[in-house]
Amino acid sequence: MLGKLMRKKTAEPDRLLAEEIASVKSRHIPAHVAIIMDGNGRWAKKRNLPRIAGHHEGMKTVRKISRIASDMGIKVLTLYAFSTENWKRPKLEIDFLMKLPGEFLSTYLPELIEQNVKVEMIGNFELLPSHTKNSIQRAIDATAENDGMTLNFAMNYGSRLELIQCMQEIAKLAAEGKIDPSEIDESLIESHLMTSHLPEPDLLIRTSGEVRLSNFMLWQLAYAEFSFTDVLWPDFDEQCMVSEIKEFQTRVRRFGSVEGDGNT
Ligand code: IPE
Ligand code: IPE
Ligand code: MG
Repeated sequence: MLGKLMRKKTAEPDRLLAEEIASVKSRHIPAHVAIIMDGNGRWAKKRNLPRIAGHHEGMKTVRKISRIASDMGIKVLTLYAFSTENWKRPKLEIDFLMKLPGEFLSTYLPELIEQNVKVEMIGNFELLPSHTKNSIQRAIDATAENDGMTLNFAMNYGSRLELIQCMQEIAKLAAEGKIDPSEIDESLIESHLMTSHLPEPDLLIRTSGEVRLSNFMLWQLAYAEFSFTDVLWPDFDEQCMVSEIKEFQTRVRRFGSVEGDGNT
Protein backbone atom coordinates (compact mmCIF):
# COMPACT_ATOMS: atom_id res chain seq x y z
CA MET A 1 0.00 0.00 0.00
CA LEU A 2 2.74 2.43 1.04
CA GLY A 3 4.79 1.43 -2.00
CA LYS A 4 1.82 2.07 -4.24
CA LEU A 5 1.24 5.50 -2.68
CA MET A 6 4.90 6.44 -2.98
CA ARG A 7 4.98 5.36 -6.62
CA LYS A 8 1.92 7.44 -7.30
CA LYS A 9 3.52 10.43 -5.62
CA THR A 10 6.53 10.38 -7.95
CA ALA A 11 4.73 9.22 -11.09
CA GLU A 12 2.20 12.07 -11.10
CA PRO A 13 4.67 14.98 -11.46
CA ASP A 14 6.57 12.96 -14.10
CA ARG A 15 3.37 12.47 -16.08
CA LEU A 16 2.45 16.16 -15.79
CA LEU A 17 5.93 17.20 -16.90
CA ALA A 18 5.79 14.79 -19.85
CA GLU A 19 2.45 16.36 -20.87
CA GLU A 20 3.92 19.85 -20.60
CA ILE A 21 6.91 18.84 -22.71
CA ALA A 22 4.59 17.37 -25.35
CA SER A 23 2.55 20.58 -25.41
CA VAL A 24 5.64 22.80 -25.68
CA LYS A 25 6.95 20.57 -28.49
CA SER A 26 3.81 21.07 -30.53
CA ARG A 27 4.86 24.72 -30.97
CA HIS A 28 8.05 26.42 -32.13
CA ILE A 29 11.07 25.28 -30.11
CA PRO A 30 14.09 27.61 -29.99
CA ALA A 31 16.99 25.98 -31.81
CA HIS A 32 19.64 27.47 -29.53
CA VAL A 33 19.13 28.39 -25.88
CA ALA A 34 21.97 30.07 -23.99
CA ILE A 35 21.96 30.30 -20.20
CA ILE A 36 24.00 32.48 -17.84
CA MET A 37 23.95 30.18 -14.82
CA ASP A 38 24.13 32.65 -11.95
CA GLY A 39 23.36 32.65 -8.23
CA ASN A 40 25.26 29.64 -6.90
CA GLY A 41 27.07 31.74 -4.29
CA ARG A 42 23.87 33.37 -3.03
CA TRP A 43 22.12 29.98 -2.90
CA ALA A 44 24.89 28.72 -0.59
CA LYS A 45 24.98 31.91 1.49
CA LYS A 46 21.25 31.63 2.22
CA ARG A 47 22.00 28.23 3.76
CA ASN A 48 25.17 29.31 5.61
CA LEU A 49 27.19 27.05 3.34
CA PRO A 50 30.47 27.84 1.56
CA ARG A 51 30.12 29.20 -1.99
CA ILE A 52 31.51 25.97 -3.43
CA ALA A 53 28.50 24.09 -2.06
CA GLY A 54 26.39 26.27 -4.34
CA HIS A 55 28.55 25.38 -7.32
CA HIS A 56 28.22 21.70 -6.50
CA GLU A 57 24.44 22.00 -6.31
CA GLY A 58 24.47 23.99 -9.55
CA MET A 59 26.11 21.03 -11.25
CA LYS A 60 23.01 18.95 -10.53
CA THR A 61 20.92 21.63 -12.23
CA VAL A 62 23.17 21.34 -15.30
CA ARG A 63 22.24 17.68 -15.49
CA LYS A 64 18.49 18.30 -15.07
CA ILE A 65 18.35 21.15 -17.57
CA SER A 66 20.48 19.35 -20.17
CA ARG A 67 18.18 16.38 -20.00
CA ILE A 68 14.94 18.32 -20.36
CA ALA A 69 16.40 20.56 -23.08
CA SER A 70 17.31 17.46 -25.05
CA ASP A 71 13.83 15.99 -24.43
CA MET A 72 12.23 19.20 -25.69
CA GLY A 73 14.15 19.01 -28.95
CA ILE A 74 16.43 22.01 -28.37
CA LYS A 75 19.34 21.62 -30.83
CA VAL A 76 21.99 23.61 -28.93
CA LEU A 77 22.19 24.42 -25.22
CA THR A 78 25.04 26.77 -24.32
CA LEU A 79 25.84 27.08 -20.62
CA TYR A 80 28.07 29.90 -19.36
CA ALA A 81 30.18 28.06 -16.78
CA PHE A 82 33.27 30.26 -16.30
CA SER A 83 34.05 33.70 -17.68
CA THR A 84 37.41 35.24 -18.51
CA GLU A 85 36.71 37.59 -15.57
CA ASN A 86 36.04 34.76 -13.09
CA TRP A 87 39.83 34.35 -12.62
CA LYS A 88 39.45 37.32 -10.22
CA ARG A 89 37.80 34.99 -7.67
CA PRO A 90 39.61 33.43 -4.68
CA LYS A 91 42.00 30.63 -5.69
CA LEU A 92 40.12 28.00 -3.68
CA GLU A 93 36.88 28.78 -5.51
CA ILE A 94 38.61 28.75 -8.91
CA ASP A 95 40.26 25.40 -8.11
CA PHE A 96 36.85 23.97 -7.22
CA LEU A 97 35.22 25.34 -10.38
CA MET A 98 38.02 23.86 -12.49
CA LYS A 99 37.38 20.43 -10.95
CA LEU A 100 33.64 20.52 -11.65
CA PRO A 101 33.79 19.58 -15.37
CA GLY A 102 35.75 16.46 -14.38
CA GLU A 103 33.25 15.52 -11.69
CA PHE A 104 30.24 16.32 -13.86
CA LEU A 105 31.51 14.41 -16.85
CA SER A 106 32.78 11.39 -14.94
CA THR A 107 29.35 11.07 -13.32
CA TYR A 108 27.08 11.92 -16.22
CA LEU A 109 28.98 11.16 -19.43
CA PRO A 110 27.33 7.71 -19.85
CA GLU A 111 23.93 9.38 -19.51
CA LEU A 112 24.84 12.06 -22.06
CA ILE A 113 26.02 9.38 -24.49
CA GLU A 114 22.75 7.48 -23.98
CA GLN A 115 20.83 10.69 -24.77
CA ASN A 116 22.86 11.12 -27.99
CA VAL A 117 24.18 14.48 -26.69
CA LYS A 118 27.29 15.99 -28.28
CA VAL A 119 29.55 17.85 -25.81
CA GLU A 120 31.38 20.92 -27.08
CA MET A 121 33.19 23.90 -25.56
CA ILE A 122 33.75 27.53 -26.44
CA GLY A 123 36.34 29.65 -24.68
CA ASN A 124 40.06 29.78 -24.27
CA PHE A 125 40.84 26.08 -23.86
CA GLU A 126 44.63 26.35 -23.67
CA LEU A 127 44.59 28.42 -20.46
CA LEU A 128 42.62 25.82 -18.46
CA PRO A 129 44.46 23.50 -16.02
CA SER A 130 45.43 20.24 -17.71
CA HIS A 131 43.07 18.08 -15.62
CA THR A 132 40.15 20.29 -16.72
CA LYS A 133 41.26 20.18 -20.35
CA ASN A 134 41.63 16.41 -20.24
CA SER A 135 38.17 15.72 -18.87
CA ILE A 136 36.51 18.11 -21.32
CA GLN A 137 38.48 16.72 -24.26
CA ARG A 138 37.57 13.15 -23.28
CA ALA A 139 33.87 14.07 -23.27
CA ILE A 140 34.17 15.90 -26.60
CA ASP A 141 35.88 12.86 -28.17
CA ALA A 142 33.46 10.34 -26.65
CA THR A 143 30.42 12.19 -27.99
CA ALA A 144 31.86 13.48 -31.30
CA GLU A 145 29.71 11.13 -33.40
CA ASN A 146 26.46 11.94 -31.57
CA ASP A 147 23.92 13.93 -33.54
CA GLY A 148 21.40 14.86 -30.85
CA MET A 149 21.53 18.07 -28.80
CA THR A 150 24.84 19.94 -28.62
CA LEU A 151 25.70 20.71 -25.00
CA ASN A 152 28.09 23.60 -25.38
CA PHE A 153 30.00 24.74 -22.29
CA ALA A 154 31.32 28.31 -22.30
CA MET A 155 34.38 27.76 -20.17
CA ASN A 156 36.99 30.48 -19.76
CA TYR A 157 34.83 32.32 -22.30
CA GLY A 158 34.71 36.09 -22.76
CA SER A 159 33.00 37.75 -25.67
CA ARG A 160 35.47 40.64 -25.90
CA LEU A 161 38.42 38.24 -26.05
CA GLU A 162 36.57 36.24 -28.73
CA LEU A 163 36.02 39.43 -30.76
CA ILE A 164 39.65 40.51 -30.31
CA GLN A 165 40.87 37.14 -31.60
CA CYS A 166 38.39 37.33 -34.49
CA MET A 167 39.60 40.81 -35.47
CA GLN A 168 43.25 39.77 -35.23
CA GLU A 169 42.63 36.81 -37.57
CA ILE A 170 40.78 38.95 -40.09
CA ALA A 171 43.38 41.74 -39.91
CA LYS A 172 46.09 39.13 -40.59
CA LEU A 173 44.22 37.89 -43.69
CA ALA A 174 43.97 41.48 -44.94
CA ALA A 175 47.63 42.24 -44.19
CA GLU A 176 48.66 39.12 -46.13
CA GLY A 177 46.54 40.26 -49.06
CA LYS A 178 44.25 37.21 -48.77
CA ILE A 179 41.14 39.39 -48.42
CA ASP A 180 40.30 42.98 -49.21
CA PRO A 181 38.90 45.02 -46.24
CA SER A 182 35.74 45.62 -48.30
CA GLU A 183 35.06 41.87 -48.11
CA ILE A 184 34.62 42.00 -44.33
CA ASP A 185 30.94 41.32 -43.73
CA GLU A 186 28.72 39.61 -41.14
CA SER A 187 29.34 36.15 -42.45
CA LEU A 188 33.14 36.58 -42.50
CA ILE A 189 33.09 37.83 -38.91
CA GLU A 190 30.81 34.96 -37.85
CA SER A 191 33.14 32.45 -39.47
CA HIS A 192 35.93 33.66 -37.15
CA LEU A 193 33.91 33.43 -33.93
CA MET A 194 34.06 30.41 -31.61
CA THR A 195 30.40 29.77 -32.44
CA SER A 196 31.00 29.68 -36.22
CA HIS A 197 29.44 26.21 -36.52
CA LEU A 198 26.37 27.00 -34.37
CA PRO A 199 23.10 28.83 -35.05
CA GLU A 200 22.86 32.09 -33.09
CA PRO A 201 20.93 31.88 -29.79
CA ASP A 202 17.16 32.39 -30.04
CA LEU A 203 16.75 32.70 -26.30
CA LEU A 204 19.04 33.92 -23.52
CA ILE A 205 18.14 33.10 -19.93
CA ARG A 206 19.95 34.56 -16.92
CA THR A 207 19.13 33.32 -13.45
CA SER A 208 19.52 35.03 -10.06
CA GLY A 209 17.99 38.43 -10.78
CA GLU A 210 21.06 40.08 -12.33
CA VAL A 211 20.15 41.98 -15.48
CA ARG A 212 23.38 42.13 -17.46
CA LEU A 213 25.34 40.11 -19.99
CA SER A 214 28.68 39.92 -18.14
CA ASN A 215 30.67 39.66 -21.37
CA PHE A 216 28.58 36.84 -22.85
CA MET A 217 28.02 36.43 -26.62
CA LEU A 218 27.83 40.16 -27.39
CA TRP A 219 27.73 39.64 -31.15
CA GLN A 220 25.64 36.47 -31.20
CA LEU A 221 22.81 37.79 -28.99
CA ALA A 222 21.96 40.71 -31.31
CA TYR A 223 18.45 39.36 -32.00
CA ALA A 224 17.94 36.85 -29.19
CA GLU A 225 14.94 37.03 -26.89
CA PHE A 226 16.03 37.77 -23.30
CA SER A 227 14.61 36.36 -20.09
CA PHE A 228 15.85 37.31 -16.63
CA THR A 229 14.53 35.28 -13.74
CA ASP A 230 15.06 35.78 -10.00
CA VAL A 231 15.42 32.02 -9.44
CA LEU A 232 18.95 31.08 -8.32
CA TRP A 233 20.65 28.55 -10.60
CA PRO A 234 20.63 25.64 -8.09
CA ASP A 235 16.85 26.14 -7.73
CA PHE A 236 16.20 26.37 -11.48
CA ASP A 237 14.35 23.13 -12.26
CA GLU A 238 12.56 21.41 -15.12
CA GLN A 239 9.37 23.34 -14.46
CA CYS A 240 11.31 26.65 -14.68
CA MET A 241 12.77 25.55 -18.02
CA VAL A 242 9.36 24.58 -19.41
CA SER A 243 7.98 27.98 -18.30
CA GLU A 244 10.86 29.77 -20.03
CA ILE A 245 10.17 28.00 -23.32
CA LYS A 246 6.43 28.66 -23.01
CA GLU A 247 7.15 32.35 -22.44
CA PHE A 248 9.48 32.36 -25.46
CA GLN A 249 6.65 30.92 -27.52
CA THR A 250 4.53 34.01 -26.80
CA ARG A 251 7.18 36.42 -28.12
CA VAL A 252 6.86 38.04 -31.54
CA ARG A 253 10.22 38.43 -33.28
CA ARG A 254 10.35 41.09 -35.95
CA PHE A 255 14.07 41.28 -36.78
CA GLY A 256 13.60 44.93 -37.72
CA SER A 257 10.66 44.35 -40.02
CA VAL A 258 7.01 45.25 -39.42
CA GLU A 259 5.77 41.71 -39.89
CA GLY A 260 5.91 39.63 -36.74
CA ASP A 261 7.58 36.27 -36.97
CA GLY A 262 5.65 34.57 -34.20
CA ASN A 263 7.22 31.78 -32.23
CA THR A 264 4.04 29.74 -32.16
C1 IPE B 1 27.49 31.43 -10.99
O1 IPE B 1 27.26 31.63 -9.65
C2 IPE B 1 28.66 30.51 -11.24
C3 IPE B 1 29.83 31.18 -11.81
C4 IPE B 1 29.93 32.42 -12.15
C5 IPE B 1 31.01 30.35 -11.98
P1 IPE B 1 28.02 32.75 -8.81
O2 IPE B 1 29.20 32.12 -8.16
O3 IPE B 1 28.33 33.94 -9.64
O4 IPE B 1 26.93 33.09 -7.72
P2 IPE B 1 26.61 34.50 -7.08
O5 IPE B 1 26.38 35.45 -8.21
O6 IPE B 1 27.81 34.87 -6.26
O7 IPE B 1 25.40 34.26 -6.25
C1 IPE C 1 28.63 35.48 -15.15
O1 IPE C 1 28.36 35.46 -13.80
C2 IPE C 1 29.55 34.36 -15.51
C3 IPE C 1 29.02 33.02 -15.40
C4 IPE C 1 27.80 32.69 -15.07
C5 IPE C 1 29.94 31.96 -15.70
P1 IPE C 1 29.16 36.38 -12.76
O2 IPE C 1 28.57 36.10 -11.44
O3 IPE C 1 30.62 36.16 -12.91
O4 IPE C 1 28.81 37.85 -13.28
P2 IPE C 1 28.92 39.26 -12.54
O5 IPE C 1 30.31 39.35 -11.98
O6 IPE C 1 27.89 39.27 -11.45
O7 IPE C 1 28.63 40.25 -13.61
MG1 MG D 1 27.33 35.65 -10.00
